Amino acid sequence: MKPLGVAVIGTGFWGRNHARVFKELEETDLKAVCDVDAERAGKVAKPFDVKPYTSIGKMLKRKDIEALSVCTWSTSLAEEATKALKAVKHVLIEKPMATEPKQAEKLIKIANDQGLHLTVGFLMRFIPGLQHVRKAVENKAIGKIVCATAKRVSEWPERVGDVGVVKDTAIHDIDVMRYLFNEDPVTVYAKTGSMKHAKFEDYAQIMLTFEDGKSAFIESNWLTPYKTRTLTVTGSEAIMKLDYITQELTIEDAKETVQPRYQWQEPLKLELKHFANCILKKEKPLITGIDGLKALQVAEATLKSSASGRTVKLK
Ligand SMILES: NC(=O)c1ccc[n+]([C@@H]2O[C@H](COP(=O)([O-])OP(=O)(O)OC[C@H]3O[C@@H](n4cnc5c(N)ncnc54)[C@H](O)[C@@H]3O)[C@@H](O)[C@H]2O)c1
Repeated sequence: MKPLGVAVIGTGFWGRNHARVFKELEETDLKAVCDVDAERAGKVAKPFDVKPYTSIGKMLKRKDIEALSVCTWSTSLAEEATKALKAVKHVLIEKPMATEPKQAEKLIKIANDQGLHLTVGFLMRFIPGLQHVRKAVENKAIGKIVCATAKRVSEWPERVGDVGVVKDTAIHDIDVMRYLFNEDPVTVYAKTGSMKHAKFEDYAQIMLTFEDGKSAFIESNWLTPYKTRTLTVTGSEAIMKLDYITQELTIEDAKETVQPRYQWQEPLKLELKHFANCILKKEKPLITGIDGLKALQVAEATLKSSASGRTVKLK
């Protein structure tokens, strides 16, 4: 099969990785990169021997580019993705997809009207251990699911902070909880605040409730001097613990502790391979624009709950 012609817009910390992986995959053929910062665009384009652009307009005119990763600042993701969709390109948009749910709704409508793929960069879903946990929940291998706890804390991120920790960081776990429970939360109660960030919250504790008394707790911050990214899922018969960084999975019940072995795999590679294959084979992606919109709605409700001090109903 002919590889998919792809490009990347936004060649900062994360976009650089998208470009590298697209270059490595046999399913994709990296054609160009774009960044408003000419030096950054040039630095990424040179080793990959592709054309750098400083504005998306000219790049989108190219017919050999069929799909794009949008990796710009969170506040410009929706605008640049709109341009790409309007130019009839398939889009992988990085999280948080948009800063407001209304922008996400517009993106979904344009993609649907044009019959294009729109997927969101919820990378955690491509960590093999999480897929194992999801299956164990579905097959009731750990009994009846009771609750899940996620911790995603680290020190201050170096990159631009144009959204707070909820839309930047906790949104990964909001998506994971929707994926694990295979349903949308019913209520959210949250406490967020700012210790160092002048404009946005830099810590958040979020409690989500689901049907039948199930619940999830998410702790996120940019205040912890070391990086932790973990998930613990409690079932009536066993507990599963996943370390997203090492990809180690531990399953404990009353009798034993087991650690299924998975070969470490680069989640971005799995994510971009899936994106390309879905387009080439005309299949529905694991993550749709609706998943992005729903996570964003929960993130908005989180901020609303913290501001009002009340539980926010989501349905
Ligand atoms: N899925 C994940 O795990 C993950 C990890 C890291 C970052 N991200 C997301 O990726 C995005 C980029 O993050 P980053 O850490 O690379 O940030 P960054 O600041 O390092 O890079 C962003 C780049 O986009 C460029 N840019 C901004 N607006 C632009 C525009 N309109 N047109 C062209 N270029 C533009 C900037 O010049 C910069 O080079 C963010 O939305 C972030 O949330 C996702």
